[in-house]
Amino acid sequence: MHYDPEHPFGTADLLASPRVIGQIGQTLDGRVATPTGKSLYINGKCALEHLHRLRAGVDAVIVGVGTIIADDPRLTVRLSEGPSPVRVVIDPEGRMPKDARCLTDASVRTLLIHREGIGSPCKNPIVIGPSCDGTLSPAAILAALAERGLRRVLVEGGPTTLSHFLTAEVIDDLHIMVAPKIFGSGREGIVLPPIDRLDEALTPATRTLLFDDGDVLFQCDLTKADHG
Ligand SMILES: NC(=O)c1ccc[n+]([C@@H]2O[C@H](COP(=O)([O-])OP(=O)(O)OC[C@H]3O[C@@H](n4cnc5c(N)ncnc54)[C@H](OP(=O)(O)O)[C@@H]3O)[C@@H](O)[C@H]2O)c1
Repeated sequence: MHYDPEHPFGTADLLASPRVIGQIGQTLDGRVATPTGKSLYINGKCALEHLHRLRAGVDAVIVGVGTIIADDPRLTVRLSEGPSPVRVVIDPEGRMPKDARCLTDASVRTLLIHREGIGSPCKNPIVIGPSCDGTLSPAAILAALAERGLRRVLVEGGPTTLSHFLTAEVIDDLHIMVAPKIFGSGREGIVLPPIDRLDEALTPATRTLLFDDGDVLFQCDLTKADHG
């Protein structure tokens, strides 16, 4: 099936309800960055435009601080119509560089999420207590955003952040953009608790969409997933 830019989310009524979308761009061998952390750009122009359409359709875009340090993204909408979402950076330990473009560019609001007791470069940070495994609970993060009116959310990466949200089973739709490239080394996109049997694999209802420049989008509906 060919990609339809009028329906980047896949289903027309998707934005009618609160929705959490995850995305990752990867190679044929499942790598999202080289071993030295280079990921710009694994996918082609069409995929980048799709990503900007996703941003334009949500209230907030979430990344982890690792992505800010590696790529210094602006996280704004520039390659499609529509408003830029509020930027949210999960930065438990306060590692966010003060000159990061998300902080210096005042065109859109940026919210930082810290654990307790961290000095923040931002005025009103969101403070989340650690869950039992020491990480910040994705459900608590989403609840804090919903309290601020941010209910449609794009988890844009990177791999650690997306994996936490997938493990917590709070992602409704997952967009995996596959580029016809093989790195043979580098960062894996999705790391979940290990399984043993094949019937334990997460098996979402999936549509595949072909882009003109060769990338393939796997649009996975995790609300209809077989969780093994
Ligand atoms: N191909 C793609 O689509 C794509 C997208 C984005 C990034 N990338 C690449 O991915 C690499 C960066 O990977 P990454 O995994 O370090 O990036 P990341 O997921 O953006 O950042 C990970 C960091 O965010 C914090 N974090 C996120 N969720 C958390 C949670 N629930 N609880 C506690 N801490 C949380 C932690 O910070 P602390 O360590 O400070 O506790 C964690 O180490 C770069 O090479 C970048 O280029 C690729």
